[in-house]
Amino acid sequence: MPNPILRLRDLVKSFGGLRAVDGVSMDVQERTLTILIGPNGSGKTTLINLITGVYKPDQGKIMFDGKDITGFPPHEIFRLGIARTFQIPQPFRKLTVLENLLVCCNNPGEGFISAVRRRTWMKFEEEAVERAFKLLKLLNLDHLWDQESWKLSGGQMKLLEVGRALMSDARLLVMDEPVAGVNPTLAHEIFRSLIRLRDELGITIFMVEHRLDIALQYTDEAYVMASGRIISKGRPEEVVMDPQVIEAYLGG
Ligand SMILES: Nc1ncnc2c1ncn2[C@@H]1O[C@H](COP(=O)(O)OP(=O)(O)OP(=O)(O)O)[C@@H](O)[C@H]1O
Ligand SMILES: [Mg+2]
Repeated sequence: MPNPILRLRDLVKSFGGLRAVDGVSMDVQERTLTILIGPNGSGKTTLINLITGVYKPDQGKIMFDGKDITGFPPHEIFRLGIARTFQIPQPFRKLTVLENLLVCCNNPGEGFISAVRRRTWMKFEEEAVERAFKLLKLLNLDHLWDQESWKLSGGQMKLLEVGRALMSDARLLVMDEPVAGVNPTLAHEIFRSLIRLRDELGITIFMVEHRLDIALQYTDEAYVMASGRIISKGRPEEVVMDPQVIEAYLGG
């Protein structure tokens, strides 16, 4: 049964006279990997910024898990369960892989109150470490847990970034070009890790990605954007054959 976790309705975002997002409606089904493609400047990153609260839409509606989150600030959207990764990973380089995950969760801290409630705090630490190791295992990074993160390869840093994003218990992971600049072997490895995470944690992944040749086989549903509008959607192998899509890319 299809069950959209994210629903966008008639979203509009203009910059001056330019309608970067021009009436976008979309349903992202739960537990899928859904991809958004489109020529340069078609509005993909702007759409991600609307979903994650970086921009407020001029018009339209954003529903997450049945709740209207239109116009919510980024931290509130994050708290509700939408996490995001950026194109350039930014781990704390001097911290170990495990520490990088632990600093990302809502640690209540060791203030006066929590010192009094030490037992609760220790329980929290225990659960955080447990979750961190579960994620590291799914990402094939568990053997590197005590390495300082500057020693990781570019691909491993991207995976670490995913792990950090998911320490929050997010249900939707939004990614902007996760395999940009990564060699094909490693890119496939990253996609396999993402699929493992999706299936094991029951999360949904919505991503913008240019490298269709690599992404296609892992994708459940694809949307195509051109000039701020959705021009095609469906199974990825059908979408890339759509004459309108071919024209948008060739003419773009
Ligand atoms: N903050 C901004 N101020 C003004 N114009 C912007 C802003 N952000 C994006 N734009 C414009 O909106 C349009 C859509 O940009 P956007 O970055 O969303 O495209 P994109 O599909 O992500 O492109 P790319 O594939 O190159 O990453 C472009 O014409 C861009 O110049
Ligand atoms: Mg972009």
